[in-house]
Amino acid sequence: MASSEHDVGAMDDFQSGRAYPMSVEGKPLALVRKNEAFFAFRDACPHQGARLSGGLVSGSPKPCLPGDEIVLENEGEIVICPWHGWEFDLNDGHTLAESCRGRVKTYPVRLVGDRVILTLF
Ligand code: FES
Repeated sequence: MASSEHDVGAMDDFQSGRAYPMSVEGKPLALVRKNEAFFAFRDACPHQGARLSGGLVSGSPKPCLPGDEIVLENEGEIVICPWHGWEFDLNDGHTLAESCRGRVKTYPVRLVGDRVILTLF
């Protein structure tokens, strides 16, 4: 299947730490910015289809003991489904919980100057 590139906006159109829903070639996608990096993914949870762009962009808690402070790692690279809380790593779309099956499809994003270019395939 052929790939296609799409200019989805200027870098400054997107704030870090939130998900932006968009439609590209009729596909529901979402875009998340983390500083100079961007993540694009299908805006549909593999569990029951919720729009992941309505979820929280967060990080994953590091292992800790009762009473310890919660410390997040990979902050800004995890999206939490708004319906049932499945968490997805935006680097490759895998779920963080071993008991949750499924993966959200991700797409490459690159910057050309200040333009955000997404590749569909
Ligand atoms: S629809 Fe996303 S976790 Fe259920």
